Amino acid sequence: MTDERIETLLAGMSPEEKAGQLTQYFYFKLPGEADPALGFDADEQPRAAEAALGRGGAGALLFVTDPAEVNRLQRLAIDGNPQGIPVLFGFDVIHGLRTIFPVPIAMAASWDPETIERGQTIAGREARAVGIHWTFAPMVDITRDPRWGRIIEGAGEDPFLGAAVAAAQVRGFQGGGIIAGPKHFAGYGASLGGRDYDEANISEYELWNTYLPPFQAAVEAGAGNIMTAYMDLNGIPASGSHWLLTKVLRDTWGFTGFVVSDANAVKNLQTHGFAADPADAAARAVTAGVDLEMAFSEPAYDHLPAVPAARDAVEVSVRRILEAKLRLGLLDEPFVDEDRAREVLADPEHRAVAREAARRSAVLLKNDGDLLPLDPGAFGSIAVLGPLADSRRDTLGPWVFDFDLAETVTVLEGIRRATGAEVAYAQGVPVTQREFPSMFDQFGGNRPEDPEGFDADAEFARAVALAESSDVAIVVLGEHQNMIGEAASRSSLDLPGRQLELLRAVAATGTPTVLLLMNGRPLDLRWPAEHVPAIMDIWYPGSQGGNAVADLLFGAASPGGKLPFTWPRTVGQVPIHYGHTRSHEPQNQGRRYWDEASTPLFPFGHGLSYGRFAYENLFVSADTVAPDAEVTVSVDVTNTGARPAPEVVQLYLHQRHGRASRPVRELKGFSRVELAPGETRRVAFTIGPQQRRYWHAAVRDWVLDTTTFDVWVGGSSAAELATTFEVRDV
Ligand code: GLC
Repeated sequence: MTDERIETLLAGMSPEEKAGQLTQYFYFKLPGEADPALGFDADEQPRAAEAALGRGGAGALLFVTDPAEVNRLQRLAIDGNPQGIPVLFGFDVIHGLRTIFPVPIAMAASWDPETIERGQTIAGREARAVGIHWTFAPMVDITRDPRWGRIIEGAGEDPFLGAAVAAAQVRGFQGGGIIAGPKHFAGYGASLGGRDYDEANISEYELWNTYLPPFQAAVEAGAGNIMTAYMDLNGIPASGSHWLLTKVLRDTWGFTGFVVSDANAVKNLQTHGFAADPADAAARAVTAGVDLEMAFSEPAYDHLPAVPAARDAVEVSVRRILEAKLRLGLLDEPFVDEDRAREVLADPEHRAVAREAARRSAVLLKNDGDLLPLDPGAFGSIAVLGPLADSRRDTLGPWVFDFDLAETVTVLEGIRRATGAEVAYAQGVPVTQREFPSMFDQFGGNRPEDPEGFDADAEFARAVALAESSDVAIVVLGEHQNMIGEAASRSSLDLPGRQLELLRAVAATGTPTVLLLMNGRPLDLRWPAEHVPAIMDIWYPGSQGGNAVADLLFGAASPGGKLPFTWPRTVGQVPIHYGHTRSHEPQNQGRRYWDEASTPLFPFGHGLSYGRFAYENLFVSADTVAPDAEVTVSVDVTNTGARPAPEVVQLYLHQRHGRASRPVRELKGFSRVELAPGETRRVAFTIGPQQRRYWHAAVRDWVLDTTTFDVWVGGSSAAELATTFEVRDV
């Protein structure tokens, strides 16, 4: 029945209608007037898209989130083509639609696939309820360069963590009823210099061992879509790469869904200097494996009917798009229930899950003297300082559009609700603007502004005086949400503006000081790490952020997140990651520069809690195994502290010798546990060929060596409890 129905539709379609099915139009119906200077004229897109719908020239739309609009446009679409084929509605549901979850890098920092899946299931439910069928997420690009703004959208530097997070998100979105679209395939996170959109030159060794595994995990989790990447990969635009989009994705991994280009990336094959003209771009993209062209206007795929050589590829792609629509039930029920949408978006359970996710994502970087948690009764007066402390828009982070600002809880509001102490606020420093406006500022973003009549010196003095006169100072610092994300790369990791100056002045008052970071990339914390007793990374914690942060500050919950990236001391160390090889002088790994230590400020996997954890009785099920056999590694973890707390138990492997120099450590297992004071849990990991193999640069295939493996288990990549096992041909 499935094929018959699709074949019947196909048989009745003209070449123009087939090309139309392979075209996705932006539909920027923006509140108020967009800024044409930013290139988005609020009316140009809707006009082009509706004209295309009327002539059966569009198979999908994006950026429509209002159910009534979805139904109106769907009616236009169905009436606009003889077969009555409905359109797919796609959108960037990255970390929530109405209920906003912590940003993806924060969710990754929870090291908690179940919570990640639960969050994306809710996002999927809310999206499907308003008529969105498909999300351009998860973003699964590995990166080791925090200058790159899109670090915030991924799961950090590690392929093993990245693969687990990718699979959890795909399960979540698709469990929530929408197609997941992992992106950007592939290698985008290695853009030269961290400069967004610049080329990525990646060896096959790094592609197969580092950048591709999260995509493979997403495909194996059943992702129904993949989005291509903008940049040149080894000289070939990823959006025109037959090797990536067909040989790897389909021939090697068996992907059966559909591929969409990133925005305008098909037409831009000409801009790259790869295609000669739009018709050439269209023909090469569709034969490389780009099924659907995401376009602003005048799609390149309109040229396909005039390119006979692309006819077979077009047929295959149209079939994939129709299969997706059939699987979603759109051919039978293309419209959305507008009343149900309101009910789903208002579900209080969604807010509760978002609050729990924000609790689990925070990373306690430092807590000297157990300053945290604060005893709500012990502090009569609390100073809350910094412009991010009371910014609802920044609390949500980037890549959100359909949010409800009024219901967003800032850090200041969360603290005020959680304590009877006197809580006073001071912005302290001027808001810092980006030099160039963010392309997303027009989407109800915020060009943060200082209040009317703001006097920088007076405000600075007022904030410091407030700190001096309070029992504790909580300083919220970081980057505004438009300083990170797409087209938001930086050449520095400094705290923007006068924030560090404020922190130094507050610390100098002698009032116990807590630094809370609102960020999506590691920032230069060399001074705070030396002089501020407690530092917690709260990321952009989402709709319930302030409540979750207050839960953590006052001990209703313990932080337990772990860093998904290596935290550099300075931007001069970048790129930096923990999984490097030994070199011939491993003993000097920390002194590779003469002007700065080359060790990280905080290691990958680092994060404290309000518990204390002891690791004992590390055991391997066999001293020696055959290359195709598994070993089980188990360990006792005990909370020797006085408070219940979470711990992420991590397992790292190192291959001592073989056909290649292997990383000093590689994450090959993790498990998040919650332990009561005094409680011991035995945690076990299975290490088989899948965890021990690696792709070999000369063999150009996956290999397994007979060798000796070091095993470490602990609470970060600096874990010390160790053992070994042998792999031998027995
Ligand atoms: C953007 C991004 C991509 C996003 C798409 C649609 O430029 O690169 O991640 O999904 O366009 O908004």
